[in-house]
Amino acid sequence: MIDTHAHLDFPQFDPDREKIIFEAKASGIKNIINIGVDLKSSRKSVELAKKYDFVYATVGVHPHDAKTLNDDVLKSIEVLAKNEKVVAIGEIGLDFYRNLSPKYVQIKAFEKQIELAKKLNLPIVVHIRNAYDDALSILIKNNVQEIGGVLHCFSGNLEQAKEGLSLGFYLSFNGTLTYPKSRAQDIAKNTPINFILTETDCPYLTPTPFRGKRNKPSYVRFVLEKLSELFPDKSFEEIEKITEENAFKLFKLGNRL
Ligand code: NI
Repeated sequence: MIDTHAHLDFPQFDPDREKIIFEAKASGIKNIINIGVDLKSSRKSVELAKKYDFVYATVGVHPHDAKTLNDDVLKSIEVLAKNEKVVAIGEIGLDFYRNLSPKYVQIKAFEKQIELAKKLNLPIVVHIRNAYDDALSILIKNNVQEIGGVLHCFSGNLEQAKEGLSLGFYLSFNGTLTYPKSRAQDIAKNTPINFILTETDCPYLTPTPFRGKRNKPSYVRFVLEKLSELFPDKSFEEIEKITEENAFKLFKLGNRL
């Protein structure tokens, strides 16, 4: 089991971070990728990755914080990205649901960070909310198939999923897949299993049966259980192995061990 999208640097984990990380390992989590959302959190992600051998990091500025991405911040992200435990640029993208940064600022920050990922030859972790068509056209325009990446917490429609897959991108699913009447279930069923990644987005989006509580990497198990229901011809263990291989391939985890 691999949690490809965790926020263990967030304050929700201040009281027991180390315990949660050891518990994840003991419960069968092979790797955790901790995701940066701004410069400070990117720094903390790299620190966590340096401290725990099975933890990796991404660095980048989330669309909510796009207004903080000036030239100095971009330069600092680039320096951080050169650490050997950094496996991607992210999370970057567009969020027109909460619009915490103006749209044109989000678009500019997204494009600048795609450019950085291409310069460093790193894949991208993409956050999209209420902006799939805009985000996909930016991805297409910037030829991101050269670097690859993942559409994290996929919440678009089937057509948008196909467009993402045609760029060679992975789709990643988390606890929302376990919620009743989740549209993500239909999308997952129609996605080739070798393009699916598992994640938690912890501390948020806790899967059933712990919905409402704080999420943590070990709960990626419930996402895998739901996937094995959606792919009845495959066992839990087969899906576990395939999704691990997918994460290894995209983030080149094996080459870094
Ligand atoms: Ni996230």
